[in-house]
Amino acid sequence: MSPEQQHRESQLVERVVASFDDTPDPRLRELMQALTRHLHAFVREVRLTEEEWQRAIEFLTAVGHLTDDRRQEFILLSDVLGASMQTVTVNNEAYGNATEATVFGPFFVDGSPEIELGGDLMAGASGQPCWVEGRVTDTHGNPVPHARIEVWGADEDGFYDVQYGDDRVAGRGHLHTDADGNYRFWGITPTPYPIPHDGPVGRLLAATGRSPMRASHLHFLVRAEGLRTLVTHIFVRGDELLDRDSVFGVRDSLVMDFAPQPAGAVTPDGRDLGDRAWSRVRFDIVLAPAAAGHEEV
Ligand code: BEZ
Ligand code: FE
Repeated sequence: MSPEQQHRESQLVERVVASFDDTPDPRLRELMQALTRHLHAFVREVRLTEEEWQRAIEFLTAVGHLTDDRRQEFILLSDVLGASMQTVTVNNEAYGNATEATVFGPFFVDGSPEIELGGDLMAGASGQPCWVEGRVTDTHGNPVPHARIEVWGADEDGFYDVQYGDDRVAGRGHLHTDADGNYRFWGITPTPYPIPHDGPVGRLLAATGRSPMRASHLHFLVRAEGLRTLVTHIFVRGDELLDRDSVFGVRDSLVMDFAPQPAGAVTPDGRDLGDRAWSRVRFDIVLAPAAAGHEEV
């Protein structure tokens, strides 16, 4: 590239960056100037053609047109680009042995039913029952009593209750740890399912030879006084999708042994499951202090 061309390109970057110099909010200034630098670096690195620029605009327009109160195609785009997971990673800094966070996903619903310790949150959802138990502690190993644990999972057909559009509530609920920080409940043994892929994000995945499938998982949201709120999932050891989860949510530390149990195996709470096989998993949860985020341990 000629020195003149180089000069024109870099001068434009500098002019755009400088246009934000007087932004009153310093954080907004930082964001806009860094965005400008990275965006221009991308355009210059790939030598973006005007036709490619046009197609990118059409793609983003299609993402916007599909987005409404119920379908958030922009978040899905962020998810498949790993931007959601990187934001989670940046905002949940490693702290001792605190349990790792992962993506929230679009299927959490406020106001889930409360279940007793040992209760069943499947509520008629299809799938194999799974006994889930564990203990919530802080990073010093002290039990966390009365922590609120929200759980939600897809059914055997790969759908969350809210995707049926018939107001059913199944496969979700919340419970509290006991005085020793212990919890237990019956949930659904996770199975793989695709993220919504009938829109522009699905077409992008197809065009790039990527699968929309998510590795099998069960969602958790754990809150306790004075401790950092944890949004995470547990994944199933042996699932062949673990290394190609479409939204990059898998962390090795979140892969758990879901032990298959044959029909007739005695259940931990004496529940009679008749001729149904079931599984069981232990997930001990370690919460960082609420102030954790930027300290290094
Ligand atoms: C989920 O796990 O529920 C999910 C996460 C990201 C995109 C779509 C679904
Ligand atoms: Fe999910």
